[in-house]
Amino acid sequence: MTGAVPGDDLRAGVDALRAGRLVAFPTETVYGLGADAADPAAVRRIFEAKGRPATHPVIVHISSEGELDVWASAVPEEARVLAAACWPGPLTLLLPRAPSVSDVVTGGRSTVGLRVPGHPVALALLQAFGRGVAAPSANRFGRVSPTTAAHVRAELGPAVDVVLDGGPCVVGIESTIVDLSGDEPVVRRPGGVPVEELERLLSRTLEVWAGSTDAASSPAPGSLASHYAPSALVVVVDDPHEASVGAARSAEAGRRVALLAPAVLDDLHPGVIELEPAGPADHFAQVLYGRLREADRLGVDELWVVPPEAAGLGLAVRDRLRRAATR
Ligand code: TXA
Ligand code: MG
Repeated sequence: MTGAVPGDDLRAGVDALRAGRLVAFPTETVYGLGADAADPAAVRRIFEAKGRPATHPVIVHISSEGELDVWASAVPEEARVLAAACWPGPLTLLLPRAPSVSDVVTGGRSTVGLRVPGHPVALALLQAFGRGVAAPSANRFGRVSPTTAAHVRAELGPAVDVVLDGGPCVVGIESTIVDLSGDEPVVRRPGGVPVEELERLLSRTLEVWAGSTDAASSPAPGSLASHYAPSALVVVVDDPHEASVGAARSAEAGRRVALLAPAVLDDLHPGVIELEPAGPADHFAQVLYGRLREADRLGVDELWVVPPEAAGLGLAVRDRLRRAATR
């Protein structure tokens, strides 16, 4: 269900934002932890609730393309093309910031991340509030992003003033981030809009940035090598047979082991917990974070994962798995 929330809940959300408090809300990608983007004290509360370093900027969610020029000082033609084609939707544009944008939002950078989310509850909240909402994913820093309201409550508890429940997120992984602040557009984070789609829209091939482990110098600090991580050790293996053999060996060595693959594996060791298969790339993306949480709930020591191919949303799934697997 991704439908509307009751009007009273929406009003409570708007009142909380106006009072400088935190509101978790559903988007099509993952749940966000929102605050009034024009209120630096409110945005600081997001960082406290998440335990997130202040150098990490947050995305400003807006209700339409028309607000681009409020937040960005320059909007290149390619940004307008992508916004027109992909918004509302799982795309974030990095653009030169307008002078009025708070350093707390941008982490002191010269750019601001902007996105119109494609979820009716998020859009209703943004429209009723009438201003931009700064929001990272509603999880503790470095952990798995929430894709249901229950995940948000379990992870952040009383640190959030209002949680709007819009059902499970349909995309399931975060937005694609495209940096349009330099000479050439660069994909900083693969996500809900496939890179192939962006290349088609811009009629050119795009550089997909490989990521960095250095928060201070990184152009997208959430791309730290270790991120999106469950407590279980994640092992990613392309070949299903190899994964099956590796998982069996660990189970025989006495570890609690689970396996996640696109389809059922026939030769799986009975000591290995087979998580419900994740299916093709789009479905894999939709269920990925829920499966990572499930592995933790089951007290798994090692989660062996066979990823989808690196095309479409498969690229973003592989990116998140690589970071989940990094210690
Ligand atoms: O799908 C999404 O993008 C979700 C939903 C809630 O909209 N949001 C999300 O936010 O994933 P967050 O903060 O968890 O990840 C956003 C990433 C972070 O790595 C952040 O550092 C980066 O985007 N980012 C945001 N603004 C930036 C900027 N001005 N320059 C560089 N990186 C930026
Ligand atoms: Mg996040």
